[in-house]
Amino acid sequence: MLKEGDLSKTPKHIAIIMDGNGRWAKKRFLPRFMGHIAGVKAVKHVVEYCGAKQIEVLTLFAFSSENWRRPKDEVAKLMDLFIGTLDKEIGRLDKKNVRLRFIGERAEFSEKLQQKMSESESRTENNTGLTLVIAANYGGHRDITLATQALARQVKAGHLQPEDINENLIAAELSIPDLPEPDLFIRTGGEKRISNFLLWQLAYTEFHFTDKFWPDFNAQAMQDAVDDFLTRQRRFGRTSEQVEGPSEIN
Ligand code: FPP
Repeated sequence: MLKEGDLSKTPKHIAIIMDGNGRWAKKRFLPRFMGHIAGVKAVKHVVEYCGAKQIEVLTLFAFSSENWRRPKDEVAKLMDLFIGTLDKEIGRLDKKNVRLRFIGERAEFSEKLQQKMSESESRTENNTGLTLVIAANYGGHRDITLATQALARQVKAGHLQPEDINENLIAAELSIPDLPEPDLFIRTGGEKRISNFLLWQLAYTEFHFTDKFWPDFNAQAMQDAVDDFLTRQRRFGRTSEQVEGPSEIN
């Protein structure tokens, strides 16, 4: 049984795999790319929701390291969409006190996109509202691999003993080490996979899957996911009796 305190615990960090843009478009006999354009609208809805509900962090999987395998034309159009959306939305995001951050390996993106990314990060770095993390060319395996390399370099330099490597040191070398780990993970589009998203950081996260295609996802769908989250009892390895405490047992 949940205690009242648990029910008031809204998630601090929500991470989303935005899936189903292509199928949304196909259902309407539209080119796949129209699904991505419609997907931007859904991004706006969830950013607004998070701002209004004082969610601290929203992480969106915009482009995985595996997405380069898509048809060249789709990749090129997605890149243009990212640049166009940043250009169009950065002013509004800044005004709304949103801090924008990117995770993933950006060196593979065009100079222009890389420049837009760093400009929007610096422009919003002192904002204190929602932190919007965009995962772009991100892969969880790669994140852990890069962290391992960083620790190996410290060992090689004699600054660290292998037996002193622990979970905290590994976590500190991963992307977004300063942010709370996701409380709630949402995947739209009906698939039930993590797809190499934040593998380490999702260890204790509650999962919510929905068949809705991403362009159909809106504030109400977000609220449904949060309501689902609020019914879960987060035990972090403890028993329910321990979590509920003596007052619930007696
Ligand atoms: C997955 O749908 C979606 C993507 C790979 C791209 C996500 C991009 C957006 C939502 C647009 C812009 C985002 C930002 C942050 C500006 P899919 O194409 O895999 O759909 P399918 O599974 O139906 O084919």
